[in-house]
Amino acid sequence: MLNDGPGVYLAISALVVAVLSYCRKYRLDHSRPPLPPGPTPLPVLGNILSLDSARPWLTFNAWRSTHGDIIYARLLSKPILVVNSEEVAKDLFERRSGIYSDRSQSIVYEAFASDFNTGFMPYGNRWRLHRRIFHQAFHQTAVPAYHAAQLRSAHKMLFSFLQDPENYPNHFQMFTMTFMLSIIYDCEAKVEDDHVANAITRYGELIVDGFAPAAMMLMETFPFLLQLPSWFPGATFKRASLKCIQAGHDVKEIPFQYVKERMSANDMGPCLVADALNRTSEEDDVNITAIKETASVAFVGMQTTDTLLVFLLAMVLDPEVQAKAQAEIDRVVGKDRLPNFDDRPALPYLEAVLRETLRWHPVVPFGIPHATTTSDIYNGYFIPKGLAMTHDATKYPSPDEFKPERFFEDDGSLNSDTMRISFGWGRRICVGRHLVDASLWIAMANFLAFFSAHKALDEHGMEIPVVPKFTNGFTVFE
Ligand code: HEM
Repeated sequence: MLNDGPGVYLAISALVVAVLSYCRKYRLDHSRPPLPPGPTPLPVLGNILSLDSARPWLTFNAWRSTHGDIIYARLLSKPILVVNSEEVAKDLFERRSGIYSDRSQSIVYEAFASDFNTGFMPYGNRWRLHRRIFHQAFHQTAVPAYHAAQLRSAHKMLFSFLQDPENYPNHFQMFTMTFMLSIIYDCEAKVEDDHVANAITRYGELIVDGFAPAAMMLMETFPFLLQLPSWFPGATFKRASLKCIQAGHDVKEIPFQYVKERMSANDMGPCLVADALNRTSEEDDVNITAIKETASVAFVGMQTTDTLLVFLLAMVLDPEVQAKAQAEIDRVVGKDRLPNFDDRPALPYLEAVLRETLRWHPVVPFGIPHATTTSDIYNGYFIPKGLAMTHDATKYPSPDEFKPERFFEDDGSLNSDTMRISFGWGRRICVGRHLVDASLWIAMANFLAFFSAHKALDEHGMEIPVVPKFTNGFTVFE
């Protein structure tokens, strides 16, 4: 038989290799600890059918009651680990951060111009460089330098609310956009024909097409959808991808050129890009690219805006909380001026409202999944290399109620829970967290000092009920 030619010889060799690798996998599977427990997967589909895609936390909670704090599941071909406890999240993402700080990669990132997004980057030198630029601009003691810009934007926001209260999502968005443009590019947002703001807005709108959960899952499962020629009937993802790649190029280049031109005309104030360029040599292309990238990443997501929408909803639904926060502001600030950052320590109830807003409906509910760089063993379970891990470490009683009181000790002082958990963990913790904290506070304080949010009235003067709805994509908001 061995004389029957090279074909047979190759077939036998392939069979031997297959048997050996099966034996090796079998030996490995049986010599290592078990995977964490989890729901039984269906062939091919895994556990995707049991996941409530609009409100995944309900599924995670149900799984937690059966399987515990650390759950292994599979969504189509993608294995995931759900960490359902703050303690476990701290153990893995902070105490073992050297292993748990990577990100899983997706073909969607490059196709939707997000491979330069710090949040999706693999753990490595390019990511470190981004973090360093962000840290220099946004570390805790750097943020007070932006208070003046944040205060100016908050005052502009009040004016817009006064002129056109119904357009409230726009006013929150402009609040975020104006101070971010100022601190990143020393640029003032104009209402019309603003090529810097337009490039940012267009890119922000186009990446959303790629990151809707259903779209992302389709592209990952059927990657050929991104290989089709753009003229091909039904090549919707491919066409969206090409547009987004162009917008991704523009969002890095247009604002950067704006800064460069003003720098050469000696007409530039301090801002993230100019400060970073002043620390960099003109030949350092790697650093210059990282500066362009980090600057545009700072605008992605606009979660500050989404969080302010959640705040407004809470105020509409809970007039007592709103009245209590306003009474505190009136007592401390008075009626003759607007709140500023110096008032913050004297406004503990407002502080609790801010924390409760972050807790009640987090806009990044499970963070950005961390991934493992090597396999690990935790609490007797095997954690495979490359596994994507999301967390839902909810620990609050009556979680659906908006209750700022939960952040107070019995003696009336604020407790130590600053809702740091909303900003993630370990080495991948949100780089914008100190900035966001100040932005949210000044916007909420000024809004409540000047306005009250109420349910709209119908033609009979009766309140129109508000039914909260949250979309679920990369962020969750009203
Ligand atoms: C309410 C507003 C915000 C919330 C709730 C939020 C929350 C988060 C969360 C949960 C993560 C993932 C952390 C992890 O993987 O453990 C993250 C990452 C990140 N955030 Fe924020 N964020 C907000 C606003 C901002 C802003 C304004 C910036 C702009 C500077 C920003 C920049 C980033 C970056 C660059 C990352 C990726 C960090 C990395 O992977 O190393 N975030 N954020």
